[in-house]
Amino acid sequence: MSDVVLRTRGLVKRFGTLTAVDQLDIEVHRGEVVGLLGPNGAGKSTTIGMILGLVRPTAGAAEVMGRDVWRDRENALANSGAIVETPAFYPYLSGRDNLTALALIRGGASRARVDLLLERVGLSARAKSKYRTYSLGMKQRLGIASTLLSDPPLVILDEPANGLDPAGQREIRELVRELAKEEHGVLLASHLLYEVEQICDRVLVINKGKLIASGTIAEVTAGAGTIDIAVGDPARAGATLRALPGITNVQETEAGVKVTAEPARGADLNRALAAAGIYASAIVPHKSSLEDVFLEITDEGGPSTSGAPAPS
Ligand SMILES: Nc1ncnc2c1ncn2[C@@H]1O[C@H](COP(=O)(O)OP(=O)(O)O)[C@@H](O)[C@H]1O
Ligand SMILES: [Mg+2]
Repeated sequence: MSDVVLRTRGLVKRFGTLTAVDQLDIEVHRGEVVGLLGPNGAGKSTTIGMILGLVRPTAGAAEVMGRDVWRDRENALANSGAIVETPAFYPYLSGRDNLTALALIRGGASRARVDLLLERVGLSARAKSKYRTYSLGMKQRLGIASTLLSDPPLVILDEPANGLDPAGQREIRELVRELAKEEHGVLLASHLLYEVEQICDRVLVINKGKLIASGTIAEVTAGAGTIDIAVGDPARAGATLRALPGITNVQETEAGVKVTAEPARGADLNRALAAAGIYASAIVPHKSSLEDVFLEITDEGGPSTSGAPAPS
């Protein structure tokens, strides 16, 4: 039996001339939290919309538990639960009554399950309080409880920590990790590296609708780094290094050059410089963090993007 809960094949969404999602092939398995990471506008929410049958794909398909979301909609959707924005609850009903109402609409979930879920998300003590008195973190947790009413194999969260204070974010992180332990497959979209680094087993980095990197965080950052080389003539060193295979980014610095390359290539670069009659006085490799890799592959680096814009 396969443990794949979600699979997309060649998923494409165009809005007029804009290709918001471009040939996306992704998989989520039971028991893992997969981060869908990308800057604002990368196509995360559009991808999730297609997986939830809210946005019609231009091409390709999404399958939940092997059921095509467009051709076998009811069965596919019965296997997924999601919060895609702050969920809509009745402000004057209690948390428990809100969940009970949803359970009725969705045709299932006993009173015992509602109570169990309230317990699961740490809301038992406030179950009888009106929804409008809840903090944002409590509202998010009630939202997660609502996605679990039917105990779906696939749980989708779009920017779950949005607007939460650090304590609230942490509660959500712990809850999401528990979902994976209970054999749900979780797809979590976020533009926050920190969040993804903390929670996810694997990450899918998308930019302009395309999958540009995927794997564990160790895999995505493997081989990525920079090498600082101190030399007397940065311009000539730069020209020599740019001519080497696999070297595309060389910046001149005060002390020499900064090269984007696998940290292990230091000796190789040194040899090339020496062959050109340039002698380095220091070679210092730096391994990239997920943040460095993310900024580099999404071209989000530079001062213009400091001060993160609100997520869309
Ligand atoms: N209904 C729509 N009509 C036109 N363009 C859209 C629509 N929905 C999203 N887009 C565009 O598609 C791109 C991807 O958006 P979105 O999936 O919301 O990105 P993300 O969730 O990664 O921030 C953006 O350029 C956005 O403006
Ligand atoms: Mg979004």
